[in-house]
Amino acid sequence: MSISESRVVIIGGTSGIGLATAKLLVSRGSTVTITGRDQSRLERAIAELGESACGESVDAMDREALERLFDRKVWFDHIVLAASGGAGAGPFGSIASERLRSGFEAKFWAQWNAAQAAAPHLTPNGSITFITAASSRLANPGTSGLAAINGALERMVPTLARELAPLRVNAVSPGVVATPWWSDKSEEMFLGACRQTPLGRAGSPDELADAIAFLIGNTFVTGVVLDVDGGLHLT
Ligand SMILES: NC(=O)c1ccc[n+]([C@@H]2O[C@H](COP(=O)([O-])OP(=O)(O)OC[C@H]3O[C@@H](n4cnc5c(N)ncnc54)[C@H](OP(=O)(O)O)[C@@H]3O)[C@@H](O)[C@H]2O)c1
Repeated sequence: MSISESRVVIIGGTSGIGLATAKLLVSRGSTVTITGRDQSRLERAIAELGESACGESVDAMDREALERLFDRKVWFDHIVLAASGGAGAGPFGSIASERLRSGFEAKFWAQWNAAQAAAPHLTPNGSITFITAASSRLANPGTSGLAAINGALERMVPTLARELAPLRVNAVSPGVVATPWWSDKSEEMFLGACRQTPLGRAGSPDELADAIAFLIGNTFVTGVVLDVDGGLHLT
């Protein structure tokens, strides 16, 4: 099945990497359903994407809402899991366990629930693509919580790739990407992360979308965590 005939659901597709992926897939002929919680952002994104796209306001932390969404879709080919909470960073000695739990809820459990609820609706030659983060392996002080959340997702990928085959299961692990994810962080933090990146800059959402489209479209790649981070994982 070529990408041009595929039906793709993007959880967290109204902004940043998810929206860039939706645009790229629509330009290649896919039919795309995007989700996000904020209704007005959802409507803006659907309007930008045009008639090959539709969307629904669904909170990925709400398992029943996810199941209702997938029941309405009945069958689709690929799911991309781009939702993020952003919580979970902070020094080990002082981060409150509730804060880390909320980070797990917003990212690990949101992506896990969406993947599990979607799996029975995915066509056998389809795919699941998680979006994790370079923090899983960076060993940067103050990011043990993010390492745990994203590392947990990344470690599931090879096992799921075997367990769910012939469905393919992969992840893209971004470094610093210029998206609204950074809007509540300081400029100093953003620039510092760019400086740590061997390529010396942030990635663009389009560069991430290109990698996600590759994993969706290549029918012989499974069980892979693809670093798309300007070399950040090497530091
Ligand atoms: N940007 C970076 O530098 C970077 C680096 C490493 C990893 N990542 C990862 O890349 C992924 C995409 O991030 P991004 O940078 O594209 O962020 P973004 O621009 O903030 O987009 C996040 C998207 O997820 C949606 N979302 C968040 N929580 C949701 C929920 N509970 N249910 C449904 N939708 C939800 C948001 O819409 P609503 O808020 O309206 O729900 C939005 O569409 C995330 O997993 C993030 O952790 C990003």
